[in-house]
Amino acid sequence: MESVSHEHRKFPPASAFVKRAHISGEDAYKALYSKSIQDPETFWAEAAEDLHWFNKWDSVLDTSDAPFFKWFDGSRTNLSYNCLDRHIEAGKGDKIAIHWEGEPGDTRDISYAQLHLEVCRFANAMKARGVKKGERVAIYLPMVPELAISVLACARIGAVHTVIFAGFSADSIRDRVLDSETRMVITGDGGYRRGKMLELKKIVDEGVADCACVKDVIVVKRGDDHPVDCPMQAGRDAWYHDLVADVSDVCPAEEMEAEDLLFLLYTSGTTGKPKGIMHTTAGYQVYSYLTSKYIFDLKNDDVYWCTADVGWITGHTYIVYGIMQNGVSQVIYEGAPNHPDEGRFWEIIEKYKVSIFYTAPTAIRAFMKWGDNWVTNKDLSSLRLLGTVGEPINPEAWIWYHKMIGSERCPIVDTWWQTETGGHMLTPMPGATATKPGCATVPFFGVEPVILTDEGEEVEAGILAIKKPWPGMLRGIYGDPQRYQDTYWCKWDGKYYFPGDGARRDEDGYIWILGRVDDVVNVSGHRIGTAELESVFVEHQDVAESAVVGIPHEIKGQGLIAFVTVIDGRAHDEPLRQELISMIDKGIGKFARPERILFSSDLPKTRSGKIMRRLLRDIAEGKELGNTTTLADPSVVEELQKQYLKA
Ligand code: PRX
Repeated sequence: MESVSHEHRKFPPASAFVKRAHISGEDAYKALYSKSIQDPETFWAEAAEDLHWFNKWDSVLDTSDAPFFKWFDGSRTNLSYNCLDRHIEAGKGDKIAIHWEGEPGDTRDISYAQLHLEVCRFANAMKARGVKKGERVAIYLPMVPELAISVLACARIGAVHTVIFAGFSADSIRDRVLDSETRMVITGDGGYRRGKMLELKKIVDEGVADCACVKDVIVVKRGDDHPVDCPMQAGRDAWYHDLVADVSDVCPAEEMEAEDLLFLLYTSGTTGKPKGIMHTTAGYQVYSYLTSKYIFDLKNDDVYWCTADVGWITGHTYIVYGIMQNGVSQVIYEGAPNHPDEGRFWEIIEKYKVSIFYTAPTAIRAFMKWGDNWVTNKDLSSLRLLGTVGEPINPEAWIWYHKMIGSERCPIVDTWWQTETGGHMLTPMPGATATKPGCATVPFFGVEPVILTDEGEEVEAGILAIKKPWPGMLRGIYGDPQRYQDTYWCKWDGKYYFPGDGARRDEDGYIWILGRVDDVVNVSGHRIGTAELESVFVEHQDVAESAVVGIPHEIKGQGLIAFVTVIDGRAHDEPLRQELISMIDKGIGKFARPERILFSSDLPKTRSGKIMRRLLRDIAEGKELGNTTTLADPSVVEELQKQYLKA
């Protein structure tokens, strides 16, 4: 974080942008921010008025059972209604909702009215298979329109979706399906990635083989021109296109209560077991709507494109719910940024005249590495706003993005938030905040950040905390209310939400995110708990113990280094390394592979037996070792360091 700490350049938004912006100028931001903090109930009630409610709320915020907060209690609404029906009623049914582009170049343009029909049809098909309100439905699909359709169809009938990113392994599917007692799984025969077909159905079959809760597996056909071997299990499996062929396209939206569960999304924590983050209906609805509107400054004529996968929270909030509630047109692209060549993203921006582009720092660093020539021969003049998400962005990448993609004209919103927060928390207001490269800057409306010590004293640099509840916040961890309280609310006796990030406040009051303070590592924007890898490694019969740490990585932001101790007699060789890598592929997914695996006879421990990860990080970063006097056996680190430098 060295370079970030010394970054002082400031970039005020261009006056042409400020003039048209929803939040125009710093004074406008400050006035509305102070209203949102002083009178949050009025602020959020006014925001909610833009949306459709079958029944309005009795109270905006109920804190009586904190930290189990309730928002808009007493109301009845439906997210799919607000994403679809509301626009059709306003005469915008013909507007394109999705410009979809498959990796091989096939395309589909889907209007809001068509999307509504597709959602209603599939919702009816799900009902016909017996799916009821409140039941869990897992979605394991590539980035095809049916992914958004399935999500919205669940919301329409009140089924709880749990989207599993299609890079996760069969074991990860099994864990999530069992934890959430999933009734139905929606998958595809395959999906394209770098010219190859990922065979998803086979992974699902393996994942749900012993899951008695799964009654239906619905399969979207993607492999028309590239047939995929896709055995169907009689009685359980059905083709999506068969189910929607013969159903009614009328499906009234279920009237959902404010705190009815909308979705579960599993994310990594500090233990080996991922957490099923719970998001409910009304608060998430208002928060996803308002953050999208203001942070992307959405206007009727915008063409928006977020390159995230719907399998992560970014896709939930800023592809589906927040963006569609605002009724704009968006691009959804199935495949890799470098297929067939490294100019693919810029070609898509040129083709669809994308005006708002939202991507991850890891992608920007890859674009930089590929070279400017892929960009300079494309017309990117339609762009007016850029965004980043998922990890801290280094100033060099920020400046490249600003110059090469934004032509020094587009504000950049560096949005800090989490699966748990539901939507943006710290971010520049594009028409108001002067940005600094690498800085998440200021809080969104209603968000009150503070920086604390472990003891709860306010400091300039320390641990980030959030003082007040906000509508998009998680409501719990599925099946484990105690873990919810312990993880997020116990650090400072229930007074603050603990996100797990370090932060610093600068002379302008801006907040800089300094990375995680726990054992969670952010690899290419994918959040991975080091304990998850460790628990996979120790399942190997020859492994005694392991410790995994994160290190800085030029492209991925962070990479993983694994230290593994092996039982006597087993050779520390390449075959063992390969066995361990294939266990990670199987236990989590290929994206969680470590950069390096180091073998040793022991790990550095204190005399009380605690592994000293700080020293492992020093070794992995090639640094001078810190204090080793508290170690039970200092020779262990010396051996490890020698091995690290040798490899
Ligand atoms: O460490 C922060 C980092 O990503 C974590 C949240 O990961 P996840 O729940 O997977 O959500 C990612 C997409 C919202 C945070 O605790 N993070 C996210 N955005 C930023 C960030 N770190 C720095 N700057 C950001 N803009």
